[in-house]
Amino acid sequence: MKKFLFLLLVSSVAQAAPFETGNFDAGKKLFEQSHCNRCHIEMKGGDGSEIFTRPDHKVRSAPQLIKQINFCGGNAGVNLSTQDEQNLGAYLNKLYYKFP
Ligand code: HEC
Repeated sequence: MKKFLFLLLVSSVAQAAPFETGNFDAGKKLFEQSHCNRCHIEMKGGDGSEIFTRPDHKVRSAPQLIKQINFCGGNAGVNLSTQDEQNLGAYLNKLYYKFP
């Protein structure tokens, strides 16, 4: 029983930080350097961030966010490493999504 509780604790901790290995500042820099908001601004106006906050926005989980970052990275013509994806995820999650 004790062992079970311990495992439960460990798995909930692992879930608590979806972009644990991501770096917010590196993500911010990459987001700006890759002009990620270029299309989002065209679509939504303003600073483009409404793409993340619109009520019917698409990304609903951390894995979905990684997928979308990957897809958009292709659109942006940038080659993202796994670490880049984590950094962008940490950045966007902290500012907008706040997945637990
Ligand atoms: C060539 C245009 C383009 C570029 C450049 C682009 N995006 Fe996107 N992005 C889109 C479009 C189009 C959507 C909306 C998809 C939809 O609603 O079906 C989107 C949506 C998103 C979403 C999901 C928003 C939601 O609905 O929750 C994320 C996250 C995102 N982009 C991240 C990025 C990142 C990170 C970059 C830079 C690496 C980037 N995008 C660059 C076109 C682009």
